[in-house]
Amino acid sequence: MSGKVFGVVVLGFLAVAAGAQTSAQQRPWMNTSLSPDARADLVQAQMSRDEEFILIDGYFGMPYQAANRPLLSAELKAQMPLSAGLVPGIPRLGIPPLTESDASLGVANGGNMRPGDTATALPSSLLTAASFNPQTAFAGGAMIAKEARAKGYNVLLAGGTNLAREPRGGRTFEYSGEDPLLAGIMVGESIRGIQSQYVISTAKHFALNDQETARTVMSTNIADADARESDLLAFEIALERGDPGAIMCSYNRVNNNYACEDHYLLSEILKGDWGYRGFVMSDWGAVHSTVPAALNGLDQESSNGSDRLDYFGPPLKEAVAKGQVPEARLRNMVHRILRSMFAKGLFDHAVVKAPIDADGDLAVAQSAAEDGIVLLKNDKAILPLTAVKRQKIALIGGYADLGVPSGGGSSQVLGIGHTKAMEVPIGGGTRVIAGETWQLPRDIVVLHASAPLAEIHRLAPQAAVTYAAGDDIAAAVALAKKSDIAIVFAHQHMREGVDVIDLVLPGNQDDLIAAVAAANPHTIVVLETGGPVTMPWLDKVDGVVEAWYSGNRGGAAIARILFGDVNPSGRLPVTFPIAESQLPHPIITGQRPDGRIIATNGTPTVYDVIYNEGSKVGYRWFEEQKLPPLFAFGYGLSYTSFAYEGLKVTGGATLSFGFDVRNTGARQGKTVAQIYVKPPYGETRLVGFSKVDLAPGEVKHVTLSADPRLLAMFDGDANIWRVAEGDYQVRLGDSSTDRAATATAHVNAGTIRP
Ligand code: BGC
Repeated sequence: MSGKVFGVVVLGFLAVAAGAQTSAQQRPWMNTSLSPDARADLVQAQMSRDEEFILIDGYFGMPYQAANRPLLSAELKAQMPLSAGLVPGIPRLGIPPLTESDASLGVANGGNMRPGDTATALPSSLLTAASFNPQTAFAGGAMIAKEARAKGYNVLLAGGTNLAREPRGGRTFEYSGEDPLLAGIMVGESIRGIQSQYVISTAKHFALNDQETARTVMSTNIADADARESDLLAFEIALERGDPGAIMCSYNRVNNNYACEDHYLLSEILKGDWGYRGFVMSDWGAVHSTVPAALNGLDQESSNGSDRLDYFGPPLKEAVAKGQVPEARLRNMVHRILRSMFAKGLFDHAVVKAPIDADGDLAVAQSAAEDGIVLLKNDKAILPLTAVKRQKIALIGGYADLGVPSGGGSSQVLGIGHTKAMEVPIGGGTRVIAGETWQLPRDIVVLHASAPLAEIHRLAPQAAVTYAAGDDIAAAVALAKKSDIAIVFAHQHMREGVDVIDLVLPGNQDDLIAAVAAANPHTIVVLETGGPVTMPWLDKVDGVVEAWYSGNRGGAAIARILFGDVNPSGRLPVTFPIAESQLPHPIITGQRPDGRIIATNGTPTVYDVIYNEGSKVGYRWFEEQKLPPLFAFGYGLSYTSFAYEGLKVTGGATLSFGFDVRNTGARQGKTVAQIYVKPPYGETRLVGFSKVDLAPGEVKHVTLSADPRLLAMFDGDANIWRVAEGDYQVRLGDSSTDRAATATAHVNAGTIRP
């Protein structure tokens, strides 16, 4: 495609979009009573071969000019979305362009700062997962999609479904935790929310891209059955719930094949077993071939500027001409893209640029934060801080005077309001290992303009609130000593592309907390972390709040939880280990002691990440290895208390559960009832959860039933789920280790086709 033609295509589309409606007679595919497949067929029948090629070969969205790429006109460059990607439309037929933005946490604008361009930043996806509340995930997705449309985007690169198998993974904050049911439901709901606004959402990164170290070269090696019962199950559930228009295949290899050209993953599992009818788009730079990628299931090269070659450009034309890629396969690629565009409403609901509803959207971000912040420790009922409203409060560290931190990478949102950025170490300055000093990488952290200091002032105007930065431990201790209460904000930075080397709070923060706690017996720690961290000072402090990356109104949410305006109800979506030695991989494969990638002489085996733990991710691993975690998956406290009563379990083809939840305390609160099942063979799994909101003394009845796949083992040889006959142990409680009520029930043998 020449730059000139490309330029004309996009300009032409705008002209048509602005012009009069074309009649349904001329464009029969605009008949909304037809199925998306029928509509796709009708429009595709009118497309030339060259036009078909336009839809399968996307551009990096930045004004971009690489030496071996088609020349882009100046006008076109000016129109390229300052975001992730663009697939030009075909105005002659009314096919809109695909305008793509990253969107894990909001409409991403971090890499492409356009003056004045802000968007509402949701809390991290991990925080949303910690809400254990599907409605919160849906509301966040819908909010992002509304803003996306107002900014001119119709495809959101959202739906991060990778499991937090590696809690040091640099994108743990972009994902939804370690459990396939929780991640599948929360991501599926977020996708549903996005697509409720006539915007295509992806689910990404398919699959097993669970660490950032060596992500473009590693091979994650795992037995089929184990993958099906863990990482792939999360995708399967997310797809069933959310039906995303696109799936983004990942950078890594899986059992040695690049994910974007893996027949087993893309064609046999995704499009075969799961019957997926949308399209597979590549991650940015994840394509490595033309013929294998096309034949094995990739439908669209997302960003020809990021790949080594424009694989789905001239090389694919040649391969189709030579018969190396059948024409039917090309037609199917295009059909899938068009089908999703019809199914998700892109033809019928053109995006219209408009101002965003900042107040409404910020309220969504704040209520998500309030739903997912987790109270981890509350000795002597130090929280809520109702009694100290008139006292002297020391706030220490974590930029609490400026805002709340966010995670870095392509998902970065520069939030509404004044956002500050500052440089921080990833993982903590320096590390001395075997006598050698390693300098850890540094990064820019973006602070959202919701400062805990200002918000605490607002809620406790008569208290004397004083801030100390925390880098000077002596100064912080002096302040803590003369205060009635000390609140230390501790920060761990995470970003895409680099894993943290360990779970230790970076820099001097562990020493800072211990010193402040020694100086003031009423010390509370507010953690602002991407994922789990270790807490050597835990016994010395009275309160710990895990606030994650809390988004555009994070400071307000934290303050309201500290002062009891909101009763905390988040639960951990990841296990917090006591130390990295408890993890299946005490050291991240491929990582140097400074957090960067091990240099090799070209031997890919250095980057073989071997998942010997199989499907035993997170709490499953801890239970099986009899390891006591620091805080268990599912754990979190409330300012009230709850009781579970009358658990009844019915067996048969699957398990069904009924029980009452009672608020036994004196104030309103929400709890997350969780059911775990241990099959006669295999490890314990979360099979159901329900977030229940109760007034003091109120009782609600909850019923749940287990998806039989969560009771089953996957039989890779027969490609079927098998439920074993036998007695299944059931436990109901507040976390993966709680046994508030237990039962045993008999399940019949059965099979489930994937
Ligand atoms: C990330 C994707 C992202 C894409 C486009 C890649 O580096 O892995 O998650 O959607 O860039 O920005």
